[in-house]
Amino acid sequence: VTNPLVLGIETSCDETGVGIVRGRTLLANTVSSSMDEHVRFGGVIPEIASRAHLEAFVPTLQQALETAGVTLEEVDAIAVTAGPGLAGALMVGVSAAKALALATGKPLYAINHLVAHVSVGLLERDGSDVAAELITDDGDLVPGLGAVLVSGGHTEILRVGDLADDVQLLGATIDDAAGEAYDKVARLLELSYPGGPAIDHAARGGDPAAFKFPRGLSNAKYMGTVESPGKHRYDFSFSGLKTAVARVVEAYEAAGETVPVAEIAASFQESVVDVITRKAVLAATENNITTLLLGGGVAANSRLRELLAERCAAHGIRLVVPPLSLCTDNGAMVAALGARLVSRGVGASSLEFTADPGLPV
Ligand code: KG4
Ligand code: ZN
Repeated sequence: VTNPLVLGIETSCDETGVGIVRGRTLLANTVSSSMDEHVRFGGVIPEIASRAHLEAFVPTLQQALETAGVTLEEVDAIAVTAGPGLAGALMVGVSAAKALALATGKPLYAINHLVAHVSVGLLERDGSDVAAELITDDGDLVPGLGAVLVSGGHTEILRVGDLADDVQLLGATIDDAAGEAYDKVARLLELSYPGGPAIDHAARGGDPAAFKFPRGLSNAKYMGTVESPGKHRYDFSFSGLKTAVARVVEAYEAAGETVPVAEIAASFQESVVDVITRKAVLAATENNITTLLLGGGVAANSRLRELLAERCAAHGIRLVVPPLSLCTDNGAMVAALGARLVSRGVGASSLEFTADPGLPV
């Protein structure tokens, strides 16, 4: 099938997403988030997210079909995020997708969430005939593709040879995700949830060099050399940074002094962004990556965009930053990957597959 009509379902974290694509054309990208219900906890509560997916799924599906102007019967295939993500949340989407596939007889594709994040680069922009960012004129994936994914739930560097079967995880966080670090530090600074936008904003008035916060897994022991790479050369760690911020805040409080929120926010942000951009560019240059796609909710960060653009340019790496609505979790990315698999003749998944919270790439 060329230009298959594919419905994509995403429920791995707190966004219930249903996207519809025809080939590389985006027809609908409907997202319902349970973010508001997690605010008072300062982080995503899995049980709340699962229940919210149950409530939001049918209305989100209906709205996406309406926006796209298609019916379920017209769809060529259904794609659903099988993992990685929150177990209960994933299960809602997978169960719903299986039910739809059984009821309609449509083929079902189990999709890896991380690979789906990269696949948004396949989509044409605004229905224009501008070539999609990741595809050559021959319809092949650009050679030397990599991705840096930074969100509330995951932080990875990927090398992508083929979206169907050749994706390599070069590095990942060994503790907190980047967005999670923002959310936790925002809490320490008594800023609002989600913490990313709040810290991004607060940091604008602060000196990023005011505090010298640790750069996780950046010393020689973890990095090693090109010839003899350390175990965590491309990996991240943000929990030590969070602890360092907590110590500084405690010291100000103990001294009865006002906590310098802008200075701490700016210095914290500089640490996170410095490490992400440095390791992303290092991984790219050492793995023949010449096009780097940025994805995940933290892609909204102004300093990350700025420094990554600067460092990619300095190393001759082409940086692709999709629109933010396609960087955060959504169903369109799942549909985009599903459509790619269908048009490449990849067979559907058996209905026996289950949600896998730790699904590897
Ligand atoms: O991809 P996403 O929408 O969903 C989840 O991972 O659940 O990412 C949300 C994360 C949150 O941790 C939020 O604090 C972070 O992205 N975030 C940001 C910014 N906007 C959102 N982090 C830093 N700077 C921002 N401007
Ligand atoms: Zn994600």
